[in-house]
Amino acid sequence: MDNKRSCLGVNDQNRLTIGGADVAELAKAFGTPCYIMDENKIRSNLREFACSLKRHYPEKSRIAYASKAFSCAHIYSICDQEGVCADVASGGELYTAMKGRFPANNIYFHGNNKTSTELRYAINLGVRCIVADHADEIRQISAIGKELGKTLNIGLRLKPGVEAHTHEFIQTGKTDSKFGADIASGEALALVKEILEAENVKLTTVHCHIGSQIFEAEPFGLAAMIMMKFMAQVKEELGYKIPELNLGGGFGIYYSGDDSPKEIADITKAISHFVIKAGNELHMPLPELVLEPGRSIVGPAGITVYKIGAVKNIPGGKTYLSVDGGMGDNIRHALYGATYEATLLEGASNERTEIVSIAGRYCESGDFICRDILLQPAKAGDLLAVLDTGAYNYSMASHYNRVPKPPVVMVSNGNPFVVVRKESWEDVAKFDNVIATRGRS
Ligand code: LLP
Repeated sequence: MDNKRSCLGVNDQNRLTIGGADVAELAKAFGTPCYIMDENKIRSNLREFACSLKRHYPEKSRIAYASKAFSCAHIYSICDQEGVCADVASGGELYTAMKGRFPANNIYFHGNNKTSTELRYAINLGVRCIVADHADEIRQISAIGKELGKTLNIGLRLKPGVEAHTHEFIQTGKTDSKFGADIASGEALALVKEILEAENVKLTTVHCHIGSQIFEAEPFGLAAMIMMKFMAQVKEELGYKIPELNLGGGFGIYYSGDDSPKEIADITKAISHFVIKAGNELHMPLPELVLEPGRSIVGPAGITVYKIGAVKNIPGGKTYLSVDGGMGDNIRHALYGATYEATLLEGASNERTEIVSIAGRYCESGDFICRDILLQPAKAGDLLAVLDTGAYNYSMASHYNRVPKPPVVMVSNGNPFVVVRKESWEDVAKFDNVIATRGRS
């Protein structure tokens, strides 16, 4: 396998390996479809982010793994062992983090509409920071703090007016994002004022997240400058020094074709440089710096293995391989037109000469995992791996057509273990109530 996929290899039987384990053997042991992830790769990505940020940024810095990319109890225990923080976006992710025995005081709690139950749960656990989205949330947090006689750390999600997508970014005067408060219109400054005047809350962080699967450094530079200017304005106009700047995540990975991700060390170097430069230009001391990578930690560490059930040659030249999974375990092609590469497990180093589309098993004509990709010649019964599926695949899985979700198997130093067990039909129906039908005896 190519070097951008360092956790994958091909063994001397010409079969695909992940983290040193033979994927065909794993498929035999755990069945298909199956998500498989290399724990060592996840750990080395986390370490590389944290260490290189420390190397390049002279003030305190932290990595908070954006756990929406892949959330299960085990990932939080990996994060804890690697000494990083976590970002959660719901009570369910927070609960899962607790199940993984993750320390609450290393958690940033995000969301544009947290329920009061979620806020209370997070506050009772003592999370590090609740990143507030709007005025009502600030009032709710302050009221809960007052009731409990505690001062709660609060962050503020801001819209710097920079929006980045895979190959482009734009700066707009005002963004219409549903997340956070707008800087340009003065909304953000008014909210900071409100936090500073509120009781039982302390503003510790300003946060932004400008998009996902971004390859260029420049949008982060622009966002860093706008955020730092805002922090300088708060100091000047309200006399308050905000201690921490959180620039979110969004760092792109290789899926296919022209995707051109940066090395982790180059990302942290570029962002550090942008913040330092902004600090120099604005004559302000550097804040503590937080980054929240999600996809770039887990995406390249995962594959999904399927069995081909049928090969269909469609008039017009297309070849469809129907597999035993699809949009229920990987919605990204159907939802975003996302692209992937794939390989057969057997003969993994053989040249990929056929153009095929991988069709799912769900009742939806858009149910494809990828279209028109190169693959080795395949037949019914072959096993294949779709690559780089570690992020936003399991975490966005559904029960459409009441298909049970596949298991997640982690490989560590060549040894596999199940971190999320395979679901059954019984699992899928377990919340259903059967109400006795009226009028029938
Ligand atoms: N921080 C915040 C506040 C976020 O909202 C996100 C992602 C991240 C960090 C992590 O971003 P990453 O490094 O993973 O790009 N479902 C989409 C991606 C949605 C990203 C949402 N927010 C997908 O499958 O491409």
